[in-house]
Amino acid sequence: MKDQTKQNKTKISDRQINKIKAKTWLEFIKLAAPRISLLIGLIATLIILAILENISPLLIRFAIDHFIQNNLTDGLIIYSVIYLIIILIIAFCTKAYLKLSGRIETEMSYNIRKRGFEHLQNLSFSFYDRTPVGWLLSRMINDVTRLCEVIAFGLIDFVWGGFTIVVILIAMLFMNLRLGLIALIAFPVVIAMTIHFQKKMLRTQREIRRLNSVITGEFNEGIMGARTTKTLLREKENELEFFETAREMNQRSIDASKMSAYFLPTVSLVGIIVAALILVFGGDAYMNNLIEIGTIYALFTYALRLWDPIRQVAGVFSEMQAAQAAAERVISLLNEPVEITDNPDVIKKYGLQNGSGELPWPEIKGTIEFKNVSFSYLKDEIVLDNFNLKIEAGETVAIVGETGAGKTTIVNLACRFYEPQKGQILIDNIDIRNLPQAWLYQNLGYVIQTPHLFSGTITDNIRYGRLEATEQEIKSAAKLVHADNFIEKMENGYATDVGEGGGRLSTGEKQLISFARAIIADPAIFILDEATSSIDTETEKQIQEAIDIILEKRTALIIAHRLSTIKNADRIIVLDNGKIIEQGSHQELLKAQGHYFNLYTGQFIIDQNV
Ligand SMILES: Nc1ncnc2c1ncn2[C@@H]1O[C@H](COP(=O)(O)OP(=O)(O)OP(=O)(O)O)[C@@H](O)[C@H]1O
Ligand SMILES: [Mg+2]
Repeated sequence: MKDQTKQNKTKISDRQINKIKAKTWLEFIKLAAPRISLLIGLIATLIILAILENISPLLIRFAIDHFIQNNLTDGLIIYSVIYLIIILIIAFCTKAYLKLSGRIETEMSYNIRKRGFEHLQNLSFSFYDRTPVGWLLSRMINDVTRLCEVIAFGLIDFVWGGFTIVVILIAMLFMNLRLGLIALIAFPVVIAMTIHFQKKMLRTQREIRRLNSVITGEFNEGIMGARTTKTLLREKENELEFFETAREMNQRSIDASKMSAYFLPTVSLVGIIVAALILVFGGDAYMNNLIEIGTIYALFTYALRLWDPIRQVAGVFSEMQAAQAAAERVISLLNEPVEITDNPDVIKKYGLQNGSGELPWPEIKGTIEFKNVSFSYLKDEIVLDNFNLKIEAGETVAIVGETGAGKTTIVNLACRFYEPQKGQILIDNIDIRNLPQAWLYQNLGYVIQTPHLFSGTITDNIRYGRLEATEQEIKSAAKLVHADNFIEKMENGYATDVGEGGGRLSTGEKQLISFARAIIADPAIFILDEATSSIDTETEKQIQEAIDIILEKRTALIIAHRLSTIKNADRIIVLDNGKIIEQGSHQELLKAQGHYFNLYTGQFIIDQNV
C-alpha cells in the first residue's frame, strides 16, 4: 500500500498539463445538449451587459464636456432618464444572465446524467468487471458537476470579458487614436503576463490537489492500519512520512498565495502606468486644446477597467485546461460501446418489442444447449474449454462442483450476460445471438447467488417480475413460495419498505421474495444460483418447497449447495475446472462412488431430512 502511494506520487507529478481540445468540449456540449435558445439568450444578455456597462464613462464624458464645462442644465432631465434606463437594463441583464446560466448548468447536468444512467444500464457485465463502481460514481457526480460549471460560468466570463475588452478598445481608439494606442501597446504585455501566471498557477494547484489526495490516503491508511502500525512499531516512520507530505503541501499553498499576491498588483501596476501615461499625454493635449477633459476622464476610466476582463478570459482557458481530463473521461464513459446488444438483423426480424418486427416472437419450448463453448473473462484464463451440455425442455439439471469450477459462469452465459469467445448457446436450437435479448429475459427466470431487491415495497419488488401483475397475483405468488408467512408478520405487510438493496430483510427473506418475483413472470426456463450461506432450517424448508413449486413444468438449471435441492434434479452434473467429470441421477452417482459421492459426503450442506 505504501509503495502504491509512492507510485501514485511519481505517476501524477510526471503528468503533463493537458492541452485544451475543442473537439472534446464540443462533444461534451453536444451530449449535454443545453437548449440553443438558452445559450443564445445568455450570450445576447452578456453582450448587452458588456456594452451598457462600458457606456457609462462615455455618458460621464458627455456630462463633463456638455453640462459642467458649459455650465448648462438644459437636457439634464433627459440625460438622467437615459442614465437611469441604462442602469435598469444593466440590473435586468444581470439577473437574467445569472438565471440563464443556472438553467443551462442544471439542464446540462440533468441531460448528461440521464444519458449516463441509460448507458450504464445497457453496458455489459464485462465492463463492470473492469470498472470500479467508485470510479463510475465519481465520473457521473463530481466530473459532471465540475464540467457543467466550467461551461456555464466559462461562457459568462468568456463572452462578458471578451466583449468588454473589444468595447473598451474600440471606444478608446475612436475617442483618441494616440492615447488609445498606449493602451493597445500595453495590452499584449498583460496578456503574456496573465498566461504565464495562469500556467504557473495551474501547475501549483494541480500539485496541491495531488498532495491533498496523498494526505487523505495517508490519513486513511494511518487510521485503518492503526493496529498493525502499533504492532510493527512503525508509528515514527509513518509520522515522518505524513509530516513530510504535509510540509510540502504547506509550502505549495504558500507558493500559490504568493503567486496571486504578486500577480494582481503587477497587472494593476501596468494599468496604473497606462492610466498615468494617459493623464500625462492627455493633459498635454488638453493644454494645446486638442482634447476635452471629459475624454481624458473616459480614457482614464477605461485604462483602469481594461485588465480585469483579460484575467477572466484567461481564467476560462485555464479552467478548461484543468478540466480537460475530466471531460475526456466522461465522454469516453458515455461512448463506451455496448458489447452485448441485438444485432441489426435481429432488430429487423423481431423488432425491439413483440410485434414490432417482421416476425412475431417465437413461442419457447425450453431446450438449452451449450455447443463447443469456450469462454474466459480475462485473456489467457480459460474458464470453459469446448464445453457441451444439452438440457431438454422441462428437465431439471443441477450443477455441482467446487468453488471456482465455473458454475456461475455457465449461468452467466445462458443468460447472455457474457458471450462465449467460441461456440454457441442455443435455445430451442436457435443461437441466442439470433434472438432478441428482451425475448430471452421474458422467458427466463433468474435467481442469483446474492438476490438483489430494489428500494421500495415488497409488492413493488415482486411486481418487477411482471409489471402488469395485479395485487392479487402478487399475493398468490408470494403464497406459492411461502413468502406470505413472514410478509404478513411485518408491520406494513406487503407495503413494507425493504430498504436500499433490500437491506432491511434477511438473506433468506430476500431469496423468498426473489422466488416470488420469478414465479410471477412465469418463465419457461428457470435458473437458480443458490447462495452458499446457510440459513435457519425453517427458512431452508420454505425455500426448498418454493424451489420445488417453481421447477414444475419448467426447464431448470440449478446450481445448488444444498443436497435437498440437488437430490430431486433429473440429472446432476459434476463440474471440475470447467469440465463435466460425472453426470447422472443422485442414486446413480452415489452408487458410482466417484466425485459426487466424495462431494456428497464431504461438502454439501445436508439438511436434517436427509
Ligand atoms: N467477473 C469475472 N472476472 C474474471 N474472472 C472471473 C469472473 N467471475 C469469475 N471468474 C473466474 O472464473 C472462474 C469460475 O468462476 P465461477 O464464478 O463460475 O465459479 P463458481 O463455480 O460459480 O464458484 P462458486 O461456487 O464459488 O460460486 C473462477 O476462477 C473465477 O475466479
Ligand atoms: Mg458461483
